[in-house]
Amino acid sequence: MVSTESVTSYLLEVILSHPLMTCALLLFTTAAICWYIRDSYVVSGFSQKYVFITGCDSGFGNLLARQLDQKGFHVIAACLTEKGAAELAAASSLTLKTLLVNVTDSESIRRAVEFVSREVGERGLWGLVNNAGRSIPIGPPEWMQMEDFTKVLDVNLLGVIDVTLQFLPLLKKAPGRVVNVASVLGRLSLTGGGYCLSKWGVEAFSDSLRRDMHQFGIKVSIIEPGFFKTSVTQLDLIEPDLRRLWARLPKDVKDSYGETYFDDYLKAQEFSMNMLCSPDLSKVTNCMEHALTARFPRTRYGAGWDAKLFWIPLSYLPSFVLDFFIDVLLPLPTGTRKI
Ligand SMILES: *[C@@H]1O[C@H](CO)[C@@H](O)[C@H](O)[C@H]1NC(C)=O
Repeated sequence: MVSTESVTSYLLEVILSHPLMTCALLLFTTAAICWYIRDSYVVSGFSQKYVFITGCDSGFGNLLARQLDQKGFHVIAACLTEKGAAELAAASSLTLKTLLVNVTDSESIRRAVEFVSREVGERGLWGLVNNAGRSIPIGPPEWMQMEDFTKVLDVNLLGVIDVTLQFLPLLKKAPGRVVNVASVLGRLSLTGGGYCLSKWGVEAFSDSLRRDMHQFGIKVSIIEPGFFKTSVTQLDLIEPDLRRLWARLPKDVKDSYGETYFDDYLKAQEFSMNMLCSPDLSKVTNCMEHALTARFPRTRYGAGWDAKLFWIPLSYLPSFVLDFFIDVLLPLPTGTRKI
């Protein structure tokens, strides 16, 4: 057996015996240390700063709202449901304000801007976190109709754009930050339906926004979570909707997949979600907090080990690699099994 230590010391020996490699190692180490120090500078005056977060009923938004509330920020938490708003208000300080906002309704956003504008006064808005999102309907593209795509795109992409555009004047005043929740599925299309499209769109929108807005001192960060246990990955919500999509398919389309396909597809989803999803949502909210509190927020945050070590590296590889993984995970149509 070769120990890690002996490999490391052997490598170091080889590197240090070449002047050029020694130089490269020194440069790399210095750059890494400088980056680390720069990354750890924090802004001050949390108690003077206002943050508006969408999608605070549950999941990342809910946890982030409570986390920032504890740090002393003025949190304005937008929820979709009265129940979500009441539960969050009960679990946080009196400084945190909840608001009912439907991001697919421009008028509802306009009312939120009015409310926030009164709250922040001349300070402007420090942080806008576009977190609200949905995944359903999600499934094979052939099972979808146009409205299944627009349902998701309306919330995850057009909602993000509408909220951002309407809040820009308040953000410019601070000047503040925009934190957009994309996904590793904004880099890899692992599944059909509107979800991946919407997240690719969020990536593109955020990139163009960042390039234009940095002239005004507004910083834009993109969060790319891997798989986490939230309503977006909740199988008891996804499954009934998959049944709905399957049930309404014409008979000849169902026949082309075969009798056992649907059940095998469900099993594959169950297997993947159980294997992939992490319950530790703080991995994501800590990235959001960094984007809002660091002196130099990063452009992109891969959140979770699966994102950092697997999905994001995979996104740099040729498409056939991902195609291979998907092929292994999903059943074959016409009931034939590969394995
Ligand atoms: C959100 O607004 C859209 C468009 O105005 C509407 O169709 C939808 O029912 C609303 N959703 C909720 C939960 O109120």
